Amino acid sequence: MAIEARNLYKTYYLEDVEINALNGVSLTIEDGEFVSIMGQSGSGKSTLMHVIGCLDTPTAGSLLIDGQDTLDLSENELADLRLQKIGFVFQAFNLIPRASSLKNVELPLIYAGVKTIERRERAIAALEAVGLGDRLSSRPSQLSGGQQQRVAIARALINNPGIILADEPTGELDSKSGTEIMEILSSLHDQGKTVILVTHEAEVAEYTKRLVRLFDGKIVEDGPTTKNMTGGKRKNELT
Ligand SMILES: Nc1ncnc2c1ncn2[C@@H]1O[C@H](COP(=O)(O)OP(=O)(O)OP(=O)(O)O)[C@@H](O)[C@H]1O
Ligand SMILES: [Mg+2]
Repeated sequence: MAIEARNLYKTYYLEDVEINALNGVSLTIEDGEFVSIMGQSGSGKSTLMHVIGCLDTPTAGSLLIDGQDTLDLSENELADLRLQKIGFVFQAFNLIPRASSLKNVELPLIYAGVKTIERRERAIAALEAVGLGDRLSSRPSQLSGGQQQRVAIARALINNPGIILADEPTGELDSKSGTEIMEILSSLHDQGKTVILVTHEAEVAEYTKRLVRLFDGKIVEDGPTTKNMTGGKRKNELT
């Protein structure tokens, strides 16, 4: 699933002040890549994830997914593309508090019009795949942070999307739970999915193969992570 961002800009206006959250970002991510995005707070990481995930539209520039220019799509077509091709994992889990793990994971299938029995079977399989087969009826408040994030990953995977976008997926977790989540994301990469994550932690980025660094809405570095470097130097260093 190739993602191609061409000269993306995202401008916000606060009162009369212009904020260029994305300031000319061009980036190609091939099928099956495992990428981390780093950069200081406010550098545009979440904005970039939202634009790549078609949750938000750029002010200028274009975003192609599998060669399809997303700006040509209607709201409904975009919603379909998100549902079928992209799974999201957020820092704060974003689960429905009063619903069980099973219900939380089934939700995207309800939108996709899948029948009850198949919905249930697929949600159980997804929860089993993240090691939560014994917590189907637990609500988020009855689960640890790491378990809640695993429910969120099961939900992101339920439509079998090719792309997983995770914005600081370990940001609120202790290191043991963080490691579990990174192992799950690594295994999704091994299965051939495109996985893109945002992190502030170098150790988390080291699970991935490629590191993109943003500064003030621009890419200032793009190359292999340390353990994937050849010749001891990052390729394509831009600074
Ligand atoms: N809805 C909005 N309205 C106005 N400004 C916004 C909005 N969303 C983001 N911004 C601004 O855009 C810039 C980039 O924000 P973004 O959330 O992408 O940063 P980030 O790199 O994800 O930061 P963090 O590490 O703190 O999550 C910031 O200056 C932010 O204040
Ligand atoms: Mg952010």
